[in-house]
Amino acid sequence: MLTHARRPAFDPLTLLASAAAAALLLTAALLTAPRVDAADTVAVDISGFAFQPGTVTIQVGDTVTWTNNDGTPHTATSTDNPALFDGQMAPGGSFSFTFSDAGTFDYVCKIHPAMQGTVVVEAAAASPGASQLPDGAMGSGSGDRMPLNVVLGIGLIALSLLAWSGAARRRARPMP
Ligand code: CO
Repeated sequence: MLTHARRPAFDPLTLLASAAAAALLLTAALLTAPRVDAADTVAVDISGFAFQPGTVTIQVGDTVTWTNNDGTPHTATSTDNPALFDGQMAPGGSFSFTFSDAGTFDYVCKIHPAMQGTVVVEAAAASPGASQLPDGAMGSGSGDRMPLNVVLGIGLIALSLLAWSGAARRRARPMP
């Protein structure tokens, strides 16, 4: 007799496995895609009447910390008007400023105008999310949520495969 009549294309277990796989992909995408690099702090050393390095490139949300290692007071004062930042530093002192807007910001020491520096602030969105996804997925960054995501993902994959193989076995051995 003909026992291999076509079964419905989607049995409940196959549907369940597909749903689990879809949920896994969605979860992974949601957890990894919006990952944004943690804000960094970049140091500028003031030494020998100079900002070192003279130009730093950061991302929106990052902080620059100037430290005065000279024996005389200095400032880090942006040249725009009004000044976006104006840090006064006694010898050994430091000043920090967090940049919340993209742009190129020139600054000087008000006391010694020959001391000049530049902070280039790149928009965080300038880095396409697609290129950040592999970094996050590999767990190579500083994100400590990633291992949990990986464990969750592997668990969901395993559950999906189990459900899938169970459904396949039932298809392979029809009831007598
Ligand atoms: Co100075």
